Amino acid sequence: MATVTKVLRGGSLVTPEGVFAGDVVLEGQRIADVVPGGLDAAQLDGCEVFDVAGCWVFPGFIDAHTHMQCWTGMDWTADSFETGTRAAACGGTTTIVDYATQDRGMTLTQALDAWHERADGTCTANYAFHMAIADWNEHTRQEIDLMRDAGITSFKTYFAYDHLRLDDAQTMEVLEAIKPFDGILCVHCENGTLVNELQRRVFERGITGPEGHPLSRPDECEAEAIGRLMYLSHLTGARVNVVHCSTELGLEEVRAAREHGVRAMLETCPQYLLLDDTRYLERGEDGFAGAKYVMSPPLRKPTDVAALRRAVLAGEVDQISTDHCSFNLHGQKDRGRADFRKIPNGGPGVEHRPALVMTTFEDDLGPMEFCRLLSTGAAREFGMYPRKGALAAGSDADVCVWDPAARWTIGAATQHQAVDYTPYEGFEAHGRARLVFVGGELVARDGEPTGAKPGTYVARS
Ligand code: URP
Ligand code: ZN
Ligand code: ZN
Repeated sequence: MATVTKVLRGGSLVTPEGVFAGDVVLEGQRIADVVPGGLDAAQLDGCEVFDVAGCWVFPGFIDAHTHMQCWTGMDWTADSFETGTRAAACGGTTTIVDYATQDRGMTLTQALDAWHERADGTCTANYAFHMAIADWNEHTRQEIDLMRDAGITSFKTYFAYDHLRLDDAQTMEVLEAIKPFDGILCVHCENGTLVNELQRRVFERGITGPEGHPLSRPDECEAEAIGRLMYLSHLTGARVNVVHCSTELGLEEVRAAREHGVRAMLETCPQYLLLDDTRYLERGEDGFAGAKYVMSPPLRKPTDVAALRRAVLAGEVDQISTDHCSFNLHGQKDRGRADFRKIPNGGPGVEHRPALVMTTFEDDLGPMEFCRLLSTGAAREFGMYPRKGALAAGSDADVCVWDPAARWTIGAATQHQAVDYTPYEGFEAHGRARLVFVGGELVARDGEPTGAKPGTYVARS
C-alpha cells in the first residue's frame, strides 16, 4: 500500500533557535521536508492535509526519565509500557527513555532482554533505555560494550535504596568504564545511609504517616550526594546527569562544580516546580491522601520550588522529565498506612508534563525554550539528536502539534495513566496536544489515543 504524504499546514514551527511559519511534510516514518512559508497549493494534491493554523508545531516531546512496568523493591509500577506510552502520547510525548534496571544477581543483558520483552510491540510512543546498574562486578564491566552495541549510551546508579545502591568506589569505576565513549551516568542523588538512619529515628518518634517521608530525607541528604557525584565526575572526567534535582542546596552543588569544569547535566521534574511539602499534610476522605506525594526525593519547601524555577528560567536546567513511577493510592500506596517506609515511592506524570510546564511558565518562557526543555535538550544529551528533537528533513516523523489556546482541567477521571489519582487534580491547563504523530502515524488527537501503536525501540549512539 502506498503511503500517503501528510502535510501539517500553516503552523508555527518551533526549534530551540527560532519560530517560523511553514509546513511540515511527513512521508512514511520520516520528515521529508520543512517548508518555511509553506507549500504552493498545487503541491498539496494527493496529500493528507492537516490544518494546524494557530498551533505550535514541535518535534515530539521526550521524557527522559520513566519507570514503566518495573519492580521497585516494594511493588510493580501501575503503568505498563502499553498504558504508559499511550498516556505519554496523549500528552504530546513521542519518546520515553525508561530505566531498564539490573537486579542483583542478574546480568545487564538479562535486564535488557526483560525490558525488551515488556516493551516490544506494545508501545504507542517510542522508547529508549538507560541501563541502571545495581550489581557492579567484572562481568557487568565487560557487558558495558554490549550495551553500547545495543544502543545504550546512558547508565544509572543509585546512592540510595539498599537493593540498588553502589558505593563510591563502584560508582567511580562505572564512570571510568563509560568515559572512553563519552557515555553519561544518571545518578539518583540521596545519601542512603543517612536516609535509613533518619527513617528509623522519625518512625521511632511516632511519626508513621506520609509526613514522615520528607522528614527522613532532608535537603542535606540530596545535596551531599550531589556534591559527592560532582567530585567523582571531577576525578574521572566523565559526564554525569543529576536526575530529579529537588533542592536549592543541591543546585548550588551543581553550580559550583560547573564552575570547576565538571560536565554535569541537570534534570528536574514538574513535581519539584509545582508542588511543595505541604502536600504531605493532605488527608482526603480516608486520611491517607498525603501518600500520593511519597516519592524520592520528596517534595520540598516553597523556597526550593522558587529556586528551581529560577534555575529553569536562567537556562541552568537541561531538561525537564517526569520520573514517572506510578502506584495506585488504593491497593498499593495504602499498604504503608501504618508505616511511611512501606509506601511505594513514586508518582505519575508522563501524560501531563508538557501541559504542566507550558502552563506554569507561560508568562516567562516561550515555545523555543519549551522545545529545548521538553524535547531537544534530552535528544542532545542522550544521543538521539537530530533523529529526535528536531524538525528537519530526515528526522523521524515524531511531531506534536500544540494548541496554545486550548483550556482543560487535569483529572484522574479523564487521564490515560493507569493509576487512580494524579498529583495535579484540578490543575487548569493552558494548551494541549492537538495532534501527535509517532513515526508518521497519528497516535493521539486532542488528548485521546487513536489506537495506533507504532512505537519502536530507539537505539542511540
Ligand atoms: O520515588 C521515586 N522517584 N521512585 C522512582 C525511582 C527513582 O528514584 O527514580
Ligand atoms: Zn531516582
Ligand atoms: Zn526515577
